[in-house]
Amino acid sequence: MTTAKKPVDKLTSAEAEKELDRLAKEIAANDRRYHGEDAPVISDADYDALRRRNDEIEKRFPLLIRADSPSHRVGAAVSDKFAKVVHKKPMLSLDNAFTDEDVHEFALRVRRFLGLKEDAELAFNCEPKIDGLSASLRYENGVFFQGATRGDGAEGEDITANLKTINDIPLRLHGKPPKVLEVRGEVYMTHAAFAALNKRQGKDGKPTYANPRNSAAGSVRQLDPAITASRALNFFAYAWGEISDLPAETQHGMLEAFAKYGFRVNPLTKQVKTVEAVLKYYRQIEEKRAALGYDIDGVVYKVDSLALQDRLGFVSRSPRWAIAHKFPAEQAETVLEDIDIQVGRTGKLAPVARLKPITVGGVVVENATLHNEDEIKRLDARIGDTVVIQRAGDVIPQVVRVVMEKRKRGAKEYEFPHKCPACGSHAVREVDEKTGKEEVDRRCTGGLICPAQAVERLRHFVSRLAFDIEGFGGTYIETLFDKGLLKEPADIFRLAKKPAELDRALSERRAEQAAERRAKEGKAETKSKKKDDEDSKLVENLVRSIDARRTIAFDRFVNALGIRHVGETNARLIARHYGTVEAFLAKMEEKDVVEDLNSIGGIGDVVAEAIKDFFDEPHNRKLVKNLLKEVDVEPMAAQKIEGSPVAGKTVVFTGSLEKMTRQEAKARAESLGAKVSGSVSAKTDLVVAGPGAGSKLTEAQKHGVQVIDEDAWLKMIEGL
Ligand code: IVH
Repeated sequence: MTTAKKPVDKLTSAEAEKELDRLAKEIAANDRRYHGEDAPVISDADYDALRRRNDEIEKRFPLLIRADSPSHRVGAAVSDKFAKVVHKKPMLSLDNAFTDEDVHEFALRVRRFLGLKEDAELAFNCEPKIDGLSASLRYENGVFFQGATRGDGAEGEDITANLKTINDIPLRLHGKPPKVLEVRGEVYMTHAAFAALNKRQGKDGKPTYANPRNSAAGSVRQLDPAITASRALNFFAYAWGEISDLPAETQHGMLEAFAKYGFRVNPLTKQVKTVEAVLKYYRQIEEKRAALGYDIDGVVYKVDSLALQDRLGFVSRSPRWAIAHKFPAEQAETVLEDIDIQVGRTGKLAPVARLKPITVGGVVVENATLHNEDEIKRLDARIGDTVVIQRAGDVIPQVVRVVMEKRKRGAKEYEFPHKCPACGSHAVREVDEKTGKEEVDRRCTGGLICPAQAVERLRHFVSRLAFDIEGFGGTYIETLFDKGLLKEPADIFRLAKKPAELDRALSERRAEQAAERRAKEGKAETKSKKKDDEDSKLVENLVRSIDARRTIAFDRFVNALGIRHVGETNARLIARHYGTVEAFLAKMEEKDVVEDLNSIGGIGDVVAEAIKDFFDEPHNRKLVKNLLKEVDVEPMAAQKIEGSPVAGKTVVFTGSLEKMTRQEAKARAESLGAKVSGSVSAKTDLVVAGPGAGSKLTEAQKHGVQVIDEDAWLKMIEGL
């Protein structure tokens, strides 16, 4: 009897292993035939029988379940939350270009950085920019091991089980892949699959999705992989993270290698040699866009040579060697019904256009930004006007122009308020001390007394890139703030220790809302026992998510403080520089705060001053102190640069460099953990001097600082 016929309970372990191998191959082959061009060669019943046999054997021999088992492709175990995955290499985003000129400038920047002559050849790989969500897939010894979302770029969510259900994602690679390989690319849904899914959802009385991108994201973030499996998703590979050895020397070659390993690579990818050819590619793809069958929102150009990519490196979150050239935004006409003024966490008065709802590119738009006072003047936007709005990808929609022909008679010019709508304080436009120019934004001068600023600061505090307190959204913050229970960030953690109080406040709020609804609808409603249970469950969950954040990464902590001009990128630079919250706070009390902050690569005057201003305010120092009584801040490891001889050292470049530009030298030193300074002092560790070095060299000799030439520098950092 062949093992294929033998009853499962009679199989030996060795036979079972062989049989599972056969079944994995046969089922995968049938999946390919079914989803590919070929017609399936076996009946559905026979196919189901293969799967059933595979499941039965796995049930009897759980230790023999293969990493590439077909059973992973449907309904694996359901978990209640995704685990976090720290990306070994950060998942970056791309800088945008909107015009041909932007693209020329990009190419020029690249040439300048590398010190390339205008006529030196520079090849680019052009790729469509797929509008889906990015995922990172880790393979070890050719077997799919772990898959994650991008998350904040540093840490994503483990969606391995879901990704395994996508047929474009191979569970086992072909050929000779590197031992460790993280392939990155885009999960997306075709127009046809999107339409079919929405039809099905509608029929089942379930919510429909706004566009293919949202539905792909919604499908991948299902806790039950069986649901993901039921959604037709696709994947294109276009980048990589950690990799044990590179199979090619160009971006183009890498994609060819990925295709050999079994990934789908976009067939419209093209290698070109000039900026003119790049722009021609853009126009060709733009023409094909409507007929592709899936959404793209632009094209991406990448410097093709990996050696050059390596030299170019990154600026904050995007590579210097790539750019996304976006397609023009989609536009539509609608009526500007009102202009609301929202007060941000830094007091900025932001005008928001309230629009008659309209669908733009598959998304209903009701609000758009009007940016600031000057912009309203420039547009001459008046309430009641017909306006053109535009929406590009996930960027906030904006008002582009007023359709003057449709203006109603008597429409009044809009007067921008000079008082804060939240607290009534004066709202002013500050004058920049250096330029003497008025700033574009009008700001509320109410500071601490302004409730809108306080609520926005708290909202920022709990947001995804800051403390990331799950489920603690805007309405809770407003409610607790209104009830006086939440005044500063530390209160969030204090409240978690008093669930009864939290429960009471939220129940009251719910009762108020119900009463409002009753009044509106003229109906009577009684509070049910079920609602009480829901409330206490809610509080339980809230307390759990708050407690989960009592330990926080240092960079998130800095970002959460909401210091003006300090977002996630600057927060990370600061955290890396000081290492611990204690060291950071101690420095903030010293006199040379601004100089010290300024010495951090990427932090300029404006940011340094804003940080100083923040800590000069006693209220802010108290807020930080109170918060530190409630939470622990994890030290931030200085950028881990294995074997870097210059990590933590202060380096000065002087004279002319011949093998690289000054900008490249600085960026390279910083990526190796060095601080690059413009002047030599006793604190300098190393001076790299080229021909023509003058006073800095003398200064170095005076302080006894080590001086080396460019070749010695290159030798020192060789291979890092
Ligand atoms: S490369 C280091 N290539 O666009 C380079 N990204 O706006 C990282 N995207 O997060 C990205 N198609 O989700 C790259 N051919 C392509 C892409 C692409 C779509 C997405 C990706 C990325 C976002 C940046």
